[in-house]
Amino acid sequence: MVQTWNPKLYAENVRFVSELGQGVLTLLSPVAGERVLDLGCGDGVLTKELASLGCEVVGIDGSAQMIKATRALGVRAQVMDGQVMTFEREFDAVFSNAALHWMKRPDDVLRGVARALKPRGRFVAEFGAGDNVAQVLSAISSCLQRRGIDAESVNPWYFPQPEDYRRKLTEHGFDVIHLELFSRPTPLPGDVLAWLETFAQSFTSTVAPEERAALLMEVRDQLRPSLFDNDDGWWVDYVRLRFAATLL
Ligand code: BEZ
Repeated sequence: MVQTWNPKLYAENVRFVSELGQGVLTLLSPVAGERVLDLGCGDGVLTKELASLGCEVVGIDGSAQMIKATRALGVRAQVMDGQVMTFEREFDAVFSNAALHWMKRPDDVLRGVARALKPRGRFVAEFGAGDNVAQVLSAISSCLQRRGIDAESVNPWYFPQPEDYRRKLTEHGFDVIHLELFSRPTPLPGDVLAWLETFAQSFTSTVAPEERAALLMEVRDQLRPSLFDNDDGWWVDYVRLRFAATLL
């Protein structure tokens, strides 16, 4: 996967990702003193919030840059791929916001989460699912198709249907307490180009560097009728899956 993470760009372009994490944090209901793993902690903003609530929290992320940013907030964190976690029966809860859709091997993730939790431990998370960013994906696909490139072959995102994910949770030994899919049309702080530059690198890197600006403009033009509003600016068609499950 060709995706780099730059904490500065992340903070400038998509700060809303952690701001919108409050709902799933509430579902977690963290209790002071609990050991919590933040799976895919990004730049650590929510990890720090968990720590400030009194949790003994550890963040993991596949990006060394993001882990550096998390540690700079004074929070424990380590570079680790969520698909090959090595923890064993040590956490009261595993929490994850806006990260699971970057992991295309959900069974490996769930196996690792189940192993990391203590008996009756909680797995509480939110991520993109169902028709998440369907308009964006469709625009990218048609612009790449015109260049003879199959977008699906480089798609870095996993957006399951809710019932498929519920089944997986059950198969991995979880009792699903809560699971909901909801649309969350999300206003962007700036141009959709910044969102694409931050998140769509796996697609844009399929064309030569000198062609990328033209590709991005073409995607932007295609999205404008559906994702741009004269009064409110750009927005993205997010759909979230939010769930809480307990290890049986
Ligand atoms: C999401 O949060 O749903 C998302 C973020 C980046 C790329 C795709 C989806």
